Amino acid sequence: MACYYHLIFLILIVATYQSNGQLSPDYYSSTCPQALHIVKKAIAAAIKHETRMGASLLRFHAHDCLVNGCDGSVLLDDNATFIGEKTAASNNNSARGFNVVDVIKAQLEQTCPGVVSCADILAIAARDSVVQLGGPSWKVRLGRRDSTTASRSVANTSIPPPTSNLSALISSFIAQGLSIKDLVTLSGSHTIGLARCTSFRGHIYSESNIDPSFANSLQSTCPRSGNDSVLASLDLQSPTSFDNLYYKNLLNKKGLLHSDQELFNGSSTDFFVKRYATNTSLFFQEFAKSMIKMGNIKPLRGSAGEIRINCRKVN
Ligand code: HEM
Ligand SMILES: *[C@@H]1O[C@H](CO)[C@@H](O)[C@H](O)[C@H]1NC(C)=O
Ligand SMILES: *[C@@H]1O[C@H](CO)[C@@H](O)[C@H](O)[C@H]1NC(C)=O
Ligand SMILES: *[C@@H]1O[C@H](CO)[C@@H](O)[C@H](O)[C@H]1NC(C)=O
Ligand SMILES: *[C@@H]1O[C@H](CO)[C@@H](O)[C@H](O)[C@H]1NC(C)=O
Ligand SMILES: *[C@@H]1O[C@H](CO)[C@@H](O)[C@H](O)[C@H]1NC(C)=O
Ligand SMILES: *[C@@H]1O[C@H](CO)[C@@H](O)[C@H](O)[C@H]1NC(C)=O
Ligand SMILES: *[C@@H]1O[C@H](CO)[C@@H](O)[C@H](O)[C@H]1NC(C)=O
Repeated sequence: MACYYHLIFLILIVATYQSNGQLSPDYYSSTCPQALHIVKKAIAAAIKHETRMGASLLRFHAHDCLVNGCDGSVLLDDNATFIGEKTAASNNNSARGFNVVDVIKAQLEQTCPGVVSCADILAIAARDSVVQLGGPSWKVRLGRRDSTTASRSVANTSIPPPTSNLSALISSFIAQGLSIKDLVTLSGSHTIGLARCTSFRGHIYSESNIDPSFANSLQSTCPRSGNDSVLASLDLQSPTSFDNLYYKNLLNKKGLLHSDQELFNGSSTDFFVKRYATNTSLFFQEFAKSMIKMGNIKPLRGSAGEIRINCRKVN
């Protein structure tokens, strides 16, 4: 008798765990065993074609997760009756990688139709991009489903702008269940990729916490007005390799964005910046942890949402 009770109890636990609980690294191991391999190959090809794509895909996952959870909402196209997140303040003329996701989704639909979500593709693509560019690896938790909605207004307010001060950055991360340490750690993503003049103009023209010669050199390509789309490296030293030089730059007042330099500007977060600047393995280890944490933000599970057939459109 006691044995039965135990069994029923166990079944209940397992059922709860599977319907609304944790994501799992093995989620597709029986339904689409090739999934991870397909994504990995496609990411390697995309980065070979254009190195920056690795950075764009890493950011893509973040911009998905920070807006009502990791649910593929960022991928939905606008049309006459639907406004998505692509034209939100921080995505318009900035979010990239839609075509790469389309290619991956098409391959997955051919191999295992209707199985792998767009939200999971973004999570795997982010990890594979980091690995491909020399960063740490981690087991991507899977089993997210895709949203049938998107919200430009939530995207506008949940993704912090680069003009944010430290307290604004901290509160926006806390609101997502992420910590101050996660903020510093995940900002280390800016060790790869590029930003537009419009994103760092204020910092190079009107602020004092920037190395003067660094500011000067940026001013020569990013004018006081106009040429908004001119690009500069977020990590001036090695924009295509995932390393800890982003933090070393911050120690030297060579952060590109106002929000970057806020992390090392005489306050509580200086401690983390210094530790990561002197210990790459620590940064890598913490980065992997923080990525998993960000990837766990409010996933759709069970019968919520859907598995989109085309990542750009609700089924
Ligand atoms: C802490 C708050 C953050 C702010 C204020 C911020 C801001 C920005 C801005 C303004 C850009 C340049 C966009 C442009 O000019 O087109 C950028 C690029 C980028 N961000 Fe962030 N970001 C933040 C957090 C993150 C997080 C959490 C990740 C990933 C986990 C991330 C990954 C990236 C990457 C990889 C790029 C380069 C993208 C590319 O080259 O296409 N950022 N970010
Ligand atoms: C997005 O950018 C385009 C091109 O710069 C611009 O015409 C459009 O108004 C922007 N959309 C929003 C919603 O800001
Ligand atoms: C979001 O920001 C864009 C670009 O700044 C702006 O045009 C738009 O009105 C905002 N939309 C919403 C719904 O808040
Ligand atoms: C930081 O920015 C927020 C939002 O823009 C503002 O309300 C606040 O006063 C600022 N805090 C500091 C310390 O400057
Ligand atoms: C804008 O960029 C173009 C092309 O790089 C350059 O020729 C022009 O001088 C720039 N304008 C300003 C105001 O810097
Ligand atoms: C941080 O940087 C700003 C410049 O953006 C400066 O005004 C401020 O005094 C600095 N220090 C602290 C502790 O915030
Ligand atoms: C760097 O971080 C790693 C990983 O946390 C740790 O094992 C190692 O002791 C640290 N090295 C130093 C010099 O602090
Ligand atoms: C517009 O986009 C929404 C969201 O993807 C979709 O549900 C709807 O069918 C689309 N409308 C048209 C006419 O394609």
